[in-house]
Amino acid sequence: MKTILVTGGAGFIGSNFIHYLLGNYSEYKVINLDLLTYAGNLENLKDLAHHGNYLFIQGDISSSALLEAIFKANPIDYVVNFAAETHVDRSIREPEIFVRTNVLGTANLLNVARKYWVNRDDSYGGNKFIQISTDEVYGSLSAKGFFTEDTPYNPRSPYSASKAGADLLAQSFYATYGFPVVITRCGNNYGPYQFPEKLIPLMINNALQKKPLPVYGDGLQIRDWLYVEDHCAAITLVLQKGKVGTVYNIGGRNEQTNLQVVKTIINYLQKHVDPLITVDLIKHVADRKGHDRRYGIDPTKIQTELGWSAQTPFHIGIEKTIRWYLEHQEWLANVTSGEYQSYYQKIYGRLEQ
Ligand SMILES: NC(=O)c1ccc[n+]([C@@H]2O[C@H](COP(=O)([O-])OP(=O)(O)OC[C@H]3O[C@@H](n4cnc5c(N)ncnc54)[C@H](O)[C@@H]3O)[C@@H](O)[C@H]2O)c1
Repeated sequence: MKTILVTGGAGFIGSNFIHYLLGNYSEYKVINLDLLTYAGNLENLKDLAHHGNYLFIQGDISSSALLEAIFKANPIDYVVNFAAETHVDRSIREPEIFVRTNVLGTANLLNVARKYWVNRDDSYGGNKFIQISTDEVYGSLSAKGFFTEDTPYNPRSPYSASKAGADLLAQSFYATYGFPVVITRCGNNYGPYQFPEKLIPLMINNALQKKPLPVYGDGLQIRDWLYVEDHCAAITLVLQKGKVGTVYNIGGRNEQTNLQVVKTIINYLQKHVDPLITVDLIKHVADRKGHDRRYGIDPTKIQTELGWSAQTPFHIGIEKTIRWYLEHQEWLANVTSGEYQSYYQKIYGRLEQ
């Protein structure tokens, strides 16, 4: 049995990852450490509450005392660090918390893991620290070319700058201490349990309520979308076979403009839910400050080295995703009450007036 400390496991990708891992493997025990910020939701994991190989701990990756206690009490073999502040719009308004969690929190986690792992075995034999990063650390592409693992850092938002800071720290731990870190950089994920401040669930939620669908600028920003389960499969492979001290880009070669994504959602809902959900709901709003124009990932390395490739074509993944939100309207209603309302008013409030 191997014990994995998953941080941020109550968020979107983390909760999908825990489901994927415990659903497919019996040899892993998962300890989920999550602060339960606005983005963390234990409802995402309620079916695992009594699972024998799952333990939840509420807490902050920035607390050395808590991490020390966890490492002391449990034989942690691997760390998968999802915990982060993740929304670019929030980082533009409040950059400090992004530095605190994404940079200082990651530094703390690296430091405590190093202390406990080096005590167990000088060569860190078998241990691995997966830092979950993002393609946003590479900046913005023009119409041609793709991000490879060698593309230089060029983060352009406080969010991506804080993630780049975490990557650099992780890489420095490998260079300085030989600490067994692997970094993964993925594009935009979509699927179940995503907080509705992000494009796809936001559009589904608003369309179902026939609220305006706010599209930044001309809506022609391009993102490289990956179904979250494909991302979870890639992370699992990296955990099992990834080469320490290296980076793996993860992407499904699925570039879409934001407007294409929004129209795909409208078409589905118009056909299957309500004919009154039409493109007339689209409302172009002032573009996000410093909005990156295009992300495009070259996943050749993970495909050739680890044999991974995305299994879910976008037209299938998006239908599965929309259906999940339709079947989980109570989940959607719960997460969009409270704090989400005041956030939404700050960012898009004008649309409702
Ligand atoms: N969502 C994407 O499309 C995407 C793409 C590439 C990379 N990533 C990266 O993947 C990771 C997970 O993203 P997500 O979309 O699931 O995020 P999310 O916002 O849905 O979840 C983040 C989780 O981290 C927890 N958290 C925040 N601060 C914490 C702290 N100080 N200590 C412990 N837990 C804390 C939150 O409670 C939440 O459960 C992040 O590191 C993000 O940068 C996300």
